[in-house]
Amino acid sequence: MRAAGRFNAQLMDFIRPHVKPGVQTEALDRLVHDYTLDHGHQPACLGYPGEKSPFPKSCCISVNEVVCHGIPGNYELRPGDIVNVDLTTIVNGWFGDQSETFILGEVKEAARRVTQCAFDSLYVAIEALRPDCQVAVIGEAIVSFVSRNYGFGVVDKYVGHGIGNCFHQRPNIPHVPNRQAYSDRLHPGMCFTIEPMINVGTPHSICDRKDGWTVRTADNQLSAQFEHTILMTESGPEILTLTGSGPQKGHQF
Ligand code: MF3
Ligand code: CO
Ligand code: CO
Repeated sequence: MRAAGRFNAQLMDFIRPHVKPGVQTEALDRLVHDYTLDHGHQPACLGYPGEKSPFPKSCCISVNEVVCHGIPGNYELRPGDIVNVDLTTIVNGWFGDQSETFILGEVKEAARRVTQCAFDSLYVAIEALRPDCQVAVIGEAIVSFVSRNYGFGVVDKYVGHGIGNCFHQRPNIPHVPNRQAYSDRLHPGMCFTIEPMINVGTPHSICDRKDGWTVRTADNQLSAQFEHTILMTESGPEILTLTGSGPQKGHQF
C-alpha cells in the first residue's frame, strides 16, 4: 500500500502542471492513462462498474458544480474554474486513491473559500485520528470545522472507504457521522480514504441520468474535494499519498 500510494502521488505530481486553462479534460485523462501504463500500472477507474455503465475513462475530473465522478471529455478548462482531479491506480494489485482541487487563474472568492474549506477539512479529519478510534471522529471533526468556520454543505451521500487489494471496501468513511461510523473503528494496519466533498450551498446532489456518473450539486453552486489514502499505524495515521509538489498541510489557496 505504501508503494501504491507513492506511485499514485507521483502521478498527481506529474499531472498537476498540465491542469491549466485551455486544456481539454480528456487530454488530461490521456496523460494520466499513458503515464500509468508506461510505469507498468493500471488505472482503476477505467471500466469500473457502475449502476448504468462502466466508467469510461482513467480518472475523474469534476469541474465547478460537479461534486464527483466527472467524466473527462471535450470541455476546455478556463480561468475561474475550480477542477478536481481524482486519481486511482493499481500497483501490483494494491490501490492508491487521491484527489486535489485546482484553482485556475483568478477565481471568485466563494471558489477559493470552498477549495480552502475542503482542503482544511481533510487535514482536520486526519488530525482527529488515533489508533482504534471510531470512524465517527472523522465526520465529527469535519462537520464541526465547516459549520464553525464556513456554513457550507458537507456532502453525506458519497463517502470515503476502506481500500487495499480492492478499490472500495468496508468500512465506509462518512464525512458526516452516521450510526455505522460509531461502531466501526480504525485499527492499526487498516487503510482507508478520507475525501470530503464541500458544497457552497446545499449538500444535496443529482446524478446525471444520461451518463450515470456525473454528480452535480442540486443548486448548481460550487463544490470542492480533496482526498488522501491513509494507513492507520500503532502510532497514528500515515498519509500514503503525500505529494512532492502539491499543497501541504496548512497551505493557503
Ligand atoms: N476515485 C473515486 C473515489 O475516491 C471513485 C471513482 S469511481 C469511478 O472513491 F469509477 F468513477 F472512477
Ligand atoms: Co476514494
Ligand atoms: Co478518489
